Amino acid sequence: RHPGWPARLGPLRVPAGVVAIRPVRLRDAGEWSRIRLRDRAHLEMWEPTGVGPWPERNAFWSWPSQWAALRSLARRGQCLPFTITLDGRLAGQITVGNVIRASLRSAWIGYWVSSEVVRGGVATAAVALVTDHAFGPAGLHRLEATVRPENTASLRVLTKAGYRQEGLFERYLDVAGAWRDHYCFAVTREETGPGLVSRLVAAGRADHA
Ligand code: ACO
Repeated sequence: RHPGWPARLGPLRVPAGVVAIRPVRLRDAGEWSRIRLRDRAHLEMWEPTGVGPWPERNAFWSWPSQWAALRSLARRGQCLPFTITLDGRLAGQITVGNVIRASLRSAWIGYWVSSEVVRGGVATAAVALVTDHAFGPAGLHRLEATVRPENTASLRVLTKAGYRQEGLFERYLDVAGAWRDHYCFAVTREETGPGLVSRLVAAGRADHA
């Protein structure tokens, strides 16, 4: 078994409600698809370009193969694919991917949250919970988040959570059909002190539920 997987994290109370983190499940299909089909305008411009049209890639029947691929990467220690829940209901996903061990012990982190619950602290709480877990039980040293300069909400999430900007990657990622510049944000274990969750709580942005 790979360190730090599977795991359940939280709960944390934020203005939107109670946030918890758990592994992705096959039975997430219904809620996952319902939210993503409705939220195309909210999500598509920020996500890596996929193969095929949005309604097909996010249909109910396309979840089992995505879930199986994520689960197999997780079992091999290459990914930590989590679902974000708010008051017990699916509210988004947060994934630690491309886990490299040996003397790098690094990965990327990425997330999305349902348009119904945005601006309530959900993503920030999720990033803090998953980052602490990655640097604790999962044994990583560095996490990197790449964000389009236009993505004000996500830039704010990373800043609130305690990530710092390192640079600009030009034409870095194929997002919404073109090669997009991305800011690179990162955090290493040494910088997190008592943990990003403790800091959010101290800043009055979250509470242990
Ligand atoms: N302009 C300025 N600020 C904004 C805007 C905006 N249009 N929208 C939100 N914000 C601010 C909010 O006010 C809040 O800051 P505050 O607490 O100082 O008021 C912050 O951005 C959002 O913080 P949270 O409430 O913790 O985040 P939320 O749960 O709303 O989720 C997220 C943010 C994940 C970016 C959501 O909007 C989303 O899913 N967007 C589409 C997908 C996406 O962009 N994912 C991230 C890709 S980059 C990456 O994964 C590393």
